Amino acid sequence: MIEKVYGLAGMKMGMFGKGGSGKSTVTTLLARTLAARGYEVTILDADSTNVGLHRALGIDRPPAPLTDYFGGVVFRGGQVSCPVDDPTRLPNAVIRWDTLPDTYYARTPNGIHYLIAGKIGDQGPGAGCDGPVAKIARDVTIGGPPDRAVMLVDFKAGFEDSARGAITSLDWAVVVVDPTNAAIQMAADMQHMVAQIQAGELPATDHLASPKMVELANAIFRDASIQGVLFVLNRVASQQMEDYLRSALDEHGLRALGVIHTDPAIAMAWLTGSALDSEPAYREIQSVIDELERSVVRHD
Ligand SMILES: Nc1ncnc2c1ncn2[C@@H]1O[C@H](COP(=O)(O)OP(=O)(O)OP(=O)(O)O)[C@@H](O)[C@H]1O
Ligand SMILES: [Mg+2]
Repeated sequence: MIEKVYGLAGMKMGMFGKGGSGKSTVTTLLARTLAARGYEVTILDADSTNVGLHRALGIDRPPAPLTDYFGGVVFRGGQVSCPVDDPTRLPNAVIRWDTLPDTYYARTPNGIHYLIAGKIGDQGPGAGCDGPVAKIARDVTIGGPPDRAVMLVDFKAGFEDSARGAITSLDWAVVVVDPTNAAIQMAADMQHMVAQIQAGELPATDHLASPKMVELANAIFRDASIQGVLFVLNRVASQQMEDYLRSALDEHGLRALGVIHTDPAIAMAWLTGSALDSEPAYREIQSVIDELERSVVRHD
């Protein structure tokens, strides 16, 4: 009997992309399909603003945020600081399912664990900084043997979290590219930034007072585990669009793992707050995962 190889086992992968490109859609499609293939999937919802990912996964009630579990945000006197001001590691950031109180996670029938890093909507005036969410996204890992475990981090839109260093602890970044020029540019920028990190470029630290803090910030980037950036096309409406996107990426030396076409059922699911059911998209994500497993080969 041939034993199945879980090529993504032990990986932490982050979803990036411009606003509305489809990060949460692709996260949901990947999570449910990876779970169906036998992976033990954890989603870390690290979007500090948008709510509703739990519904796309078929979860009724969102769990309590990890900002509470880790002692509250620094702006209210808690433990969870902002990684830009405070490069220290989040203490006790390894999560174990047998000890994490069940208010802090939800579990779908197909076994996906869902965690929320934190939302700033409920923090009140003066505490509206999502640095602590980025810090949790950077530092949280799941304890236990990797076996078939894979973690997907759904980031908020744009570049900020990756620039804050949340990208350093990932194994791979996945950029979701929608049919816009801005998305193509962001894909190229992300590739460039990861190349800079891999070439040993250190973070901006002029704002940090002590040499010890500067050293800590540098160490985070020096020890970065990020191996590369991968690309998924989403909300593609025609062959012409797909061809254009592929050749535009190609001009930057980038290649997409696959494509998710426009499906009105996806938009309806997000509109009505229901579980994301789109037969074509789940079919398309299968070949994205095949490509992902081929691309992601550990070098250590
Ligand atoms: N393949 C698709 N087909 C049809 N509609 C889609 C598709 N992907 C995404 N959408 C639409 O785009 C919207 C944004 O998608 P999604 O929430 O996944 O993006 P996001 O990148 O996570 O957004 P945000 O930046 O706000 O977090 C959805 O509400 C949905 O209406
Ligand atoms: Mg989203």
